[in-house]
Amino acid sequence: MKLALIGYGNAARALARLLARKRRDFPFRITGIHTLRHGTAVDPAGLPDDPPFGPRAPSIEAFLDAARANTAVELTTLDPSTGEPAISHIRAAFARGMHVVTANKGPLAHAYADLRDAAAAAGVGFRFESAAMDGAPIFNLWRHTMPGVKLLGFAGALNSTSKVVIEAMERGGSFEDGLAAARALGITEADGAYDVEGWDSAAKTAALANVLMDARVTPAQVSTRGITRLTPERVQEMARQGKTVRLISRAKRTGAQVALRVRAEVLDRCDILAAVRGTSNVLLFHTDLMGTFGTVSIDPGVEQTAYGVFGDLVGLINA
Ligand SMILES: NC(=O)c1ccc[n+]([C@@H]2O[C@H](COP(=O)([O-])OP(=O)(O)OC[C@H]3O[C@@H](n4cnc5c(N)ncnc54)[C@H](OP(=O)(O)O)[C@@H]3O)[C@@H](O)[C@H]2O)c1
Repeated sequence: MKLALIGYGNAARALARLLARKRRDFPFRITGIHTLRHGTAVDPAGLPDDPPFGPRAPSIEAFLDAARANTAVELTTLDPSTGEPAISHIRAAFARGMHVVTANKGPLAHAYADLRDAAAAAGVGFRFESAAMDGAPIFNLWRHTMPGVKLLGFAGALNSTSKVVIEAMERGGSFEDGLAAARALGITEADGAYDVEGWDSAAKTAALANVLMDARVTPAQVSTRGITRLTPERVQEMARQGKTVRLISRAKRTGAQVALRVRAEVLDRCDILAAVRGTSNVLLFHTDLMGTFGTVSIDPGVEQTAYGVFGDLVGLINA
């Protein structure tokens, strides 16, 4: 399978390393890499591991035509308010009969139903396991292992920065100390607002609901409040009572609608949603036939994001 990588940052470079490691068993070939500021590299016969970059291709269409790949891997920067430019990149790939794998939650949060239908009309695959929980099985779990089960709702602690901030305040630090710790871990936006005001969680909530519940919403339709009003005093008082706070994403099917919200919730320390710490994440599914079950990811990193993309690529070959 020939791959055209759109974006060559942390996630795409980790994917390239993983593909190189697994080359004997999974002979994928990268035939093009397109970036914003670092130019474009193309060789339809396959690029070397340290590819030479030339001038940037004039458009995504020109890049995809030159790379002559059968799958586009979309790993560009997330724009949480629009989902672009990833949505346009994905459409351009579908228009050329290419499969698409992405780790970008923007397209799922803003345009999932349209993109799913466009992929079906083009007869190509569209996979995105790493978009919500860094490669831990969510979408493929539902695709492959839950025949006949209806998803009634979900609850998840999906934002790492907010956990790091709350834990710092529990240890006696300030809100800003927590944000600095999250920044040092490389898991937060430059100003941190996107995470602590709940917009990262809202985008993940919309993405999950659009894919798994056909909710057809955008992040703006998720009722969202972040953790910005929490103080160290309040957090420490709760800790003395055996409680903590987590930024929780919830979805609930109510008739034909899906109600979605993100809130800083006070939870018992032993609540499973409160039990994961730092960059770890947990997502619980409420169902009709399988009760409640979930996925937990302990200390995921960019290597796990790369694995989610790799697993999607292998899944396309086996589809
Ligand atoms: N890193 C993770 O662990 C992780 C986890 C889950 C999901 N994701 C998602 O994966 C995606 C990539 O994340 P990342 O951490 O790899 O980001 P990153 O390090 O910031 O890299 C983004 C890449 O996208 C390129 N790019 C931006 N706009 C572009 C455009 N219009 N055309 C072509 N290329 C463009 C950039 O080009 P330049 O190099 O020229 O700037 C850069 O190579 C994001 O959507 C992110 O939300 C990442």
